[in-house]
Amino acid sequence: MATAVRDLIDVSRDSLRAQFRRDVLTGLSQKRKAIPARWFYDHRGSELFEEITRLPEYYPTRTETGILMAHATRIGRMVGPRHHVVVEFGAGSATKTPLLLDAIWTAAYVPIDISGEFLRESCAGLAARYPELPIHPVEADFSQPATLPGEVEQHPRLGFFPGSTIGNMEPMAAVDLLRSMRRTLGAGSLLLIGFDRIKAESELVSAYDDAQGVTAAFNLNLAARINGELGGTLPLDALAHRAVWNDDRARIEMHIAATRAIEFEVCGRRFTMAQGETIHTENSHKYDPRSADTLLLAGGWEPLQGFGDADDRFMVILARAIGDEQTA
Ligand SMILES: C[S@@+](CC[C@H](N)C(=O)[O-])C[C@H]1O[C@@H](n2cnc3c(N)ncnc32)[C@H](O)[C@@H]1O
Repeated sequence: MATAVRDLIDVSRDSLRAQFRRDVLTGLSQKRKAIPARWFYDHRGSELFEEITRLPEYYPTRTETGILMAHATRIGRMVGPRHHVVVEFGAGSATKTPLLLDAIWTAAYVPIDISGEFLRESCAGLAARYPELPIHPVEADFSQPATLPGEVEQHPRLGFFPGSTIGNMEPMAAVDLLRSMRRTLGAGSLLLIGFDRIKAESELVSAYDDAQGVTAAFNLNLAARINGELGGTLPLDALAHRAVWNDDRARIEMHIAATRAIEFEVCGRRFTMAQGETIHTENSHKYDPRSADTLLLAGGWEPLQGFGDADDRFMVILARAIGDEQTA
């Protein structure tokens, strides 16, 4: 029997809304204004991210896709002949997912994403391609431990976390997330995860500040979202996109800068920004193989095999959940 996509599990939609409000108000009240990158992804933000992935400057998507294509057979062999439940964290358009699904035996697919409507559309595309595959989309913040649908419980799990989304987290939060994934996926599970590598500053900055201004539109869409969803009055004509390389932290930072002194309201609360002051909207940490392995180990995952490209731009690592006896 052909299986449709199960109803979107969106038990947390109200709490996501409340969390967005709380993060924005807290972030704008800080001395150094900052809003977590997860709030980029309303439907428009997800569409703009898709445009970014097709830009000539944005090497991560095509490089990671090339790595997955080149090593799919090996990955399939390492995962083995058992049917796995694939749990994808931050699935977005799920364009890389078929590369994995075609390489392994899959019992069910559980994509988790904060951008619910966009996730539903991605799943419809996957369901047309894999009519027999049970698909259980979950609209949620993946930094909170997730309960997987009961009917997938008897199968081993393979976590899939491409897109170097792990780089959006500060190292401590990244370790917390990896540990939470290990709890969600359970003993004996595997994780296939993408890390962007440290490289020349000019290449990194242009990947986050492209000539067509798509990344700028993606960044500034957060301000438009605040205006639309939280009764904000941010003057969009006084805001500009900034992307800078922070060498000490090995990360690209994106900011929204005020081009003049401004005053605005969000949820009835008043805020000001001086000319040049910024709202820090994203970190994208870059790794080398050893720092990525160390992060995985700290998060409870033993790296089994790294896969890379000829120019050392990106790496995909297959890791296994470390048994409790080894982490004690
Ligand atoms: C950098 S994009 C990567 C998309 C896709 N996995 C890829 O490889 O191209 C990050 C994705 O993770 C989702 N996301 C970001 N933070 C999230 C969070 N805290 N919880 C759930 N989804 C999140 C976004 O909606 C987006 O789809």
